[in-house]
Amino acid sequence: MAIEKTFLMVKPDGVERQLVGDIVDRFERKGFTLCEAKLMTITEDLAKQHYAEHSERPFFGELVDFITSGPVFAMVWEGENVISVGRLMMGATNPLESAPGTIRGDYSTTVSHNVIHGSDSFASAQREITLFFGEEAL
Ligand code: PPS
Repeated sequence: MAIEKTFLMVKPDGVERQLVGDIVDRFERKGFTLCEAKLMTITEDLAKQHYAEHSERPFFGELVDFITSGPVFAMVWEGENVISVGRLMMGATNPLESAPGTIRGDYSTTVSHNVIHGSDSFASAQREITLFFGEEAL
């Protein structure tokens, strides 16, 4: 049994569309525990750190502009296999592959304005939780 923590973030489009409650509800009903949460506006510096692995990709500027364009709802969730199960609940990044019933499958049609971000590995989760909430949240 792997009890672990992950970082999830409702992106500016999800906050603007008032999807925070639905998303928190989905994770709570699944059986995961909300450990940390805050509504915040991401600075350009934090956005560039958060998405550093994509810095050479052609859409990096767009990604930073979008994630800093309005408030996000940043969270830490805990539970069994929450990193990989959380990614399944989010749905695929590619809108052609995000199944109905997933968050992106239900609410998003684009690869960029896709409502939610979630850590994709244990290492990413550790890095992103620390970046947004400090080491004490690990
Ligand atoms: S993944 O899940 O990391 O494999 O997905 P990937 O396709 O590599 O995309 C990484 C993040 O970049 C966002 N993205 C884009 N933003 C703007 N424009 C374009 N064209 C674009 N393509 C991908 C995508 O939503 C991913 O964001 P996060 O927050 O990591 O889910």
